Amino acid sequence: MSRPRIVVTRRIPQPALDLLNAAGDVWLSPHDRALTREELFDAVQSADAIICLLHDKIDADLLDAAGPQLKVVANVAVGYDNVDTQAIASRGTVWFTNTPGVLTEATADIAFSLILMATRRLGEGERMIRSQTPWSWNMFFMLGTGLQGKTLGIVGLGLIGQATARRAKAFGMEIVYSGRRQADPTIEQELGARYISFDELLETADVVSLHCPLNADTRHLIDADRLRQMRSDAYLINTTRGPVVDEAALAAALRSGELAGAGLDVFEAEPKVDVGLLDLENAVLIPHLGSATIETRTAMGVLAATNAIAVLRGEEPPSPVVRAS
Ligand code: DGY
Repeated sequence: MSRPRIVVTRRIPQPALDLLNAAGDVWLSPHDRALTREELFDAVQSADAIICLLHDKIDADLLDAAGPQLKVVANVAVGYDNVDTQAIASRGTVWFTNTPGVLTEATADIAFSLILMATRRLGEGERMIRSQTPWSWNMFFMLGTGLQGKTLGIVGLGLIGQATARRAKAFGMEIVYSGRRQADPTIEQELGARYISFDELLETADVVSLHCPLNADTRHLIDADRLRQMRSDAYLINTTRGPVVDEAALAAALRSGELAGAGLDVFEAEPKVDVGLLDLENAVLIPHLGSATIETRTAMGVLAATNAIAVLRGEEPPSPVVRAS
């Protein structure tokens, strides 16, 4: 029997490549960058499996370019706004998988790092030292906001939202959350989390942390009006996907003092960042580092490879999003 053709659109950790090499003939992109649309179309021709990354747009045209033998698309990410899941589902013959669970703790670490950086002005302090700006300790020097007794509003209490809430609880914060549905009572109890409306969350939370997926309903969920609803001493944290926030509106709110601060790991048009954010001392900006640990990226690659290999063997993959019928 011929070995399946497995297309890997960009380098992934070696343990994942080792698994794939044992399972089929792997084509690995030779480029240290995202493939262009044209290169992607060329690469996927006759593929049985595509291992893709969050910058690869997977849609009906790409599925056509791959051909009818395609059996699985395995995204090496938990978020999959890069994938037209309807187009995959309508084929009926292609599985689509993602990588939930393995990046929960790493991403929550980054969400909480951003909360601390924003509220305690750590980026600003570091910039001051590095620029050799004269400073001296005094009782009022670079005061930030303490977290104990403050309220964290989690938008989307999924795995990463819960892990962020767990960290916040250890810091003495109260937890409220909003989302499409109320969490299991055991989760609410463990976190001491209270389910409230999105409006109430925005109006009351000291820190709002976004953990909802990006989709048609959540694009610009936080726009100028929503920012106005937030308290002027509140902070906004985004570790999900950039387009959930209207970046230009956020920059304006931070500049005018309508909002105290923000911590962003993700941006609307990555790797570009709205220029209005760049000179703001009250914006902490980091380059999509949520899952960026050696352990986590390895686990993501291995899970994606395991998903693809399971499908190629005719088995159920560990983390399906779309099933072939
Ligand atoms: C994901 O998996 O969706 C993350 O954004 C990658 O860091």
